[in-house]
Amino acid sequence: MPIIYTIPEIRKYVKAWKEEGLSIGFVPTMGFLHEGHKSLIERAVKENDRVIVSDFVNPTQFGPKEDLKTYPRDLDRDSQLCEQAGASLLFCPSPEEMYSEDYTTYVNMEQLSEELCGKSRPNHFRGVCTVVTKLFHIVTPHCAYFGKKDAQQLAIIQRMVRDLNFDIKIVGCPIIREEDGLAKSSRNTYLNPHERKAALVLSQALNLGKQHLLQGETSSNVLIDAMTRQIEQEPLAKIDYINIVDASSMQLIETVNRPVLCAMAVYIGKTRLIDNFFWPE
Ligand code: PAF
Repeated sequence: MPIIYTIPEIRKYVKAWKEEGLSIGFVPTMGFLHEGHKSLIERAVKENDRVIVSDFVNPTQFGPKEDLKTYPRDLDRDSQLCEQAGASLLFCPSPEEMYSEDYTTYVNMEQLSEELCGKSRPNHFRGVCTVVTKLFHIVTPHCAYFGKKDAQQLAIIQRMVRDLNFDIKIVGCPIIREEDGLAKSSRNTYLNPHERKAALVLSQALNLGKQHLLQGETSSNVLIDAMTRQIEQEPLAKIDYINIVDASSMQLIETVNRPVLCAMAVYIGKTRLIDNFFWPE
């Protein structure tokens, strides 16, 4: 499986495949791939003739105090996983290849990026929308695959594709979890054994929220309080946010009387983890 580093080179592959009438699936990633990414690639392989995976730690979506420098990287492992999952090509541009020194153009989404991660990570979704737009223009895929663990990101990209008329089908794929319930994430690698155990509190609190919903609770405040109390029992955990939002507008709601996203970000030690569920599931 070729690893491609430049935009002109990847465009050659895409042009040749399109001339043959082949369909192209795309899985954008920031590398350090795990089972969650593998499931996206495998789904893309099932549904397309060729699959491109991008591996790019995008600087514009990190805040000044975030983990851009320490974000885990392992290109050898990533390329093996891509090959095993059946990808056709791995696109691995450098930051200089993607952003010229005098780069000034950004894609900004209003409303959907105001709450949840958008509130605690200002400019994060501006960076995501910008890089995904650039990658879509470079790869010109027919379909692109995103995980539901980044549920707000998925909603934003779906809206961006609609608003900006990209001719690309966006496919949202289920969260992949460890056996004990922890959502797979490249950042799980930061956790020491104590923190790894403590991190279970996210999925446990979400399950508690689901139980209350199943029992007929519809007040966001009551649901959020129950989940908050559960997380506060874990000494290593510090809540960034727990919110319930309308599944389409990503705006806060008081009563669960329509499809919603229940999402949380919790620090376990210094590591910020996110998890969520859509309701109804
Ligand atoms: O979800 C991610 O890994 C990133 O936000 C993405 C979509 C690859 C953009 O950098």
